[in-house]
Amino acid sequence: MDVALKIWRFDPESGERELREYEVDAPEWVTLLDVLDLIKDRVDGTLAYRKSCRMMICGSCGMRMDGAAVLACKTRMAEIAESGHVPVVSPMGNLPVVKDLVVDMDPFWEKIRAMKPWLEPGYLEPEEDREFHVSQEQTNVINKEALCINCGCCVSECNSMESDPEFLGPAALAKGMRFVGDARDQQTVERLEEYNSEHGIWDCTRCYFCQERCPKGVDPRDAIAKLGAESVRLGVDRDMGAKHAKWFVTSAKTTGWLRETELVPKTQGVVSSIKQMKFAMNLARHGKVPPPFPPHVAKNVKESRKLYELVKQQDRDGAAGIVQGEKALARIEFSEAGGAHRIAPEVEPGVEAPHAEG
Ligand code: SF4
Ligand code: SF4
Ligand code: FES
Repeated sequence: MDVALKIWRFDPESGERELREYEVDAPEWVTLLDVLDLIKDRVDGTLAYRKSCRMMICGSCGMRMDGAAVLACKTRMAEIAESGHVPVVSPMGNLPVVKDLVVDMDPFWEKIRAMKPWLEPGYLEPEEDREFHVSQEQTNVINKEALCINCGCCVSECNSMESDPEFLGPAALAKGMRFVGDARDQQTVERLEEYNSEHGIWDCTRCYFCQERCPKGVDPRDAIAKLGAESVRLGVDRDMGAKHAKWFVTSAKTTGWLRETELVPKTQGVVSSIKQMKFAMNLARHGKVPPPFPPHVAKNVKESRKLYELVKQQDRDGAAGIVQGEKALARIEFSEAGGAHRIAPEVEPGVEAPHAEG
């Protein structure tokens, strides 16, 4: 079959950028990486890109196709070629381009290093048989995070990093959760203190692009949510983001809805609220602020309270409340034509999903 690609080329010496089109004859089974190899072998040996394992393990071949980050060795081309579409291939976003499709990964590794990606067992002694025992339940907490191959696809698509390049970002924070959630690590609070600082977990805008693009099912946004939940559970909550999240819970539990008029003082403190009084009065004059007294209570507030109690009864505080129990890769199904799509978590016959009624 004929496979055509447009590739953004970048020459670091001249600083020139150019979109060039290539077409090669390729077997049906080819991936994007195979097509790049064919182009390099047969058409233009100067094309630069990274690769190593060719089997979705090493994380080297991250790049963008039609504006979305992919692993080139995981992306089948047959369906695209048959449709007549000519995809545009470009380097990953949020990282400096070195040449063509090669990006400088140094900023990525700096952030990974900042998470102290090693176990800190402290004075914890192994049990009698000289092994640390970690239960399946404990492992489930970091089941997905442990699958990261450091490809950078999530970083490429991160909106927060685009506006703040110092934001720790989805890959580093997922790595952080991999150690915060490890039952053997004894530096949990110290780690959370660091991850809660400026450019840390609360700067994520929850756009979920990282989750959407991660080729390994790591779900980095879930990892960040787990870090937030663990921070609140362990009292690492001086950041405004943590206070904001805590107020959401209190507000939903007590009245069944979000009392926004109290959100600013609860989150930013009284002084900051006074500074915003003029803005608040303006909103009130235009009928945008409901009267705080008596507080409006949602008709079905009992539902919200039951949900709160259910989570408490299940002892699912902190990260445990976000663990969905699914095996990450089991949710990614590969189609005949290649590519991957997610399937809904399996529901066991006869087992009802937990809900607040009853
Ligand atoms: S959810 Fe957060 S970490 Fe993930 S891409 Fe969006 S802003 Fe970045
Ligand atoms: S979290 Fe996923 S997308 Fe991000 S670096 Fe790890 S494997 Fe790649
Ligand atoms: S070449 Fe290793 S992940 Fe693609």
